Amino acid sequence: MNSATFRIWRGDARGGEFRDYSTEISEGMVVLDAVHDIQATQANDLACRWNCKAGKCGSCSAEINGMPKLMCMTRLNDLPLDKAVTIEPMKAFPPLKDLITDVSWNFAVKKRIKPFKPRPPDAPDGTWRMAQRDIDRVQEFRKCIECFLCQDVCHVLRDHHKQDQFIGPRFFVYSAALEMHPLDIEDRVVELRETQGIGYCNITKCCTKVCPENIHITDNAIIPLKERVVDDYYDPLGWIWKKIRRRNERSPEPLA
Ligand code: SF4
Ligand code: SF4
Ligand code: FES
Repeated sequence: MNSATFRIWRGDARGGEFRDYSTEISEGMVVLDAVHDIQATQANDLACRWNCKAGKCGSCSAEINGMPKLMCMTRLNDLPLDKAVTIEPMKAFPPLKDLITDVSWNFAVKKRIKPFKPRPPDAPDGTWRMAQRDIDRVQEFRKCIECFLCQDVCHVLRDHHKQDQFIGPRFFVYSAALEMHPLDIEDRVVELRETQGIGYCNITKCCTKVCPENIHITDNAIIPLKERVVDDYYDPLGWIWKKIRRRNERSPEPLA
């Protein structure tokens, strides 16, 4: 059995430092396994957040060798082990303890986004009719596990600290899922431009590169939302057409 060194950030909101831990490693291990081994044998007070160990709960987000990643989905044999593997908390959020950050800002942002508002049912039995291609378009966005790695990597939040003016890629994905839902009749375009800062995104695609669910955040969510903003604000014919279309959506012909 081999061993490897892990340089783990230890500290809290007042500050901290990296400490080195060596532990035995074996075939198939992921970074979270190594952190658990270190926790069990050398640092019982090491704090890390995790739940599923299957890439589905979004809890174990951290920065591994400087890259935002899920600890449970990062295999040791994909990392160079001839030098220490650095593991530190996400930088875009306030540190709480060791690898745990305070991500509560994200949940406050989510509450500010207008919720799903379906049009009246299409049929007298209270059901709706939707085209499969319209369902397929939003299905991708529903894969989000709220790991917030995209928020962590986005320079608007990470470097420019625009948390009060910019909701971040995760919530553009969330807004896109609602805006493009075939039944939704709410209009979120004014907020996207005025208070949610979509204009700050300069489509660097860093968020897309780190998404563990491979959601095409920029191409499929942010760019179509930006196009809606442009249509509404700078294309008067598009604006009038949209108003007519939305009015018709609110009063669909009842199905026989
Ligand atoms: S594409 Fe936009 S939202 Fe994504 S990381 Fe870049 S600036 Fe942020
Ligand atoms: S969009 Fe991707 S990176 Fe962002 S929170 Fe969801 S799963 Fe994580
Ligand atoms: S422990 Fe759930 S995503 Fe890593």
